[in-house]
Amino acid sequence: MKISLKDKTALITGANGAIGRMVCHYLGGAGCKLLACHAGFHRDVAKQLVAEEKSEGCQIELLEFDVSNYEEAKDAIADGESKLGPVDIVVNVAGITRDKPLKKMTPADWQAVIDINLTGIYNVTQCVIEGMSSRGWGRVVNISSINGQKGQFGQANYSAAKAGVHGFTMAVAQEVAKKGVTVNTVSPGYIDSPMIRAVPEEIREQIRAGIPTGRFGMPEDVAAMVTFLASEQASWVTGADFSVNGGHFIH
Ligand code: CAA
Repeated sequence: MKISLKDKTALITGANGAIGRMVCHYLGGAGCKLLACHAGFHRDVAKQLVAEEKSEGCQIELLEFDVSNYEEAKDAIADGESKLGPVDIVVNVAGITRDKPLKKMTPADWQAVIDINLTGIYNVTQCVIEGMSSRGWGRVVNISSINGQKGQFGQANYSAAKAGVHGFTMAVAQEVAKKGVTVNTVSPGYIDSPMIRAVPEEIREQIRAGIPTGRFGMPEDVAAMVTFLASEQASWVTGADFSVNGGHFIH
């Protein structure tokens, strides 16, 4: 099966994170024009992404905005669409952690994670869903987490937001199914990335030992699933949650 997304425009949030970068690379490789969105914390990484993708012949534009701010998202997306054309594919990857047991979790820790990981998905998707529906084709892929499916000690905020992501997916999938737009969730397990490397080593090793495949996932494992869901071939797949977790949580 060959996946071609030639001339489609894909918008990826969190594009300079480990998963986001690989999603850009896979979708760019399938022929997409890329709107690579980042929050401005690591401009050097974002510029490197642009250089890499351009060297492979891909059209790419950077959009810098905070996904938790609706007006910023709206303006940036309009700017991106004026450069590369209307958005056909959205991959909502942007996310943060503020891990602490609930007894130590401050309102700021709670709100930051909900605002970026959950409200961010509303903000970005809301800005493009009508355009996709009116053109009769679209793909929304929301990155959730194994910890939205099973909960995780120290992640009341993150687990709540990520569980909410799939609720959003299931609702919106029903709203746009007749319009040729699919909406799906991908729930990665523990992927080799800075987010996982920030977990204390002893805990990280315990986690790895609990993964039946015996290794952390790679960004490629997630990007391959996202690329399939963005494809023409996945037109009858909607409202679903795809675990990419090495068997870590089977349910
Ligand atoms: N289950 C049960 N008990 C646990 C536990 C667990 N998983 N982890 C810690 N504890 C216990 C400790 O043994 C300790 O017990 P005692 O008090 O009896 O000694 C107690 O909880 C520690 O409590 P503290 O209040 O001292 O906790 P802390 O302030 O040290 O914070 C933590 C702990 C920061 C949450 C730490 O456990 C941690 O980082 N855990 C990992 C969380 C995690 O998996 N995050 C995922 C990040 S990656 C990601 O999110 C991407 C993705 O989508 C997968």
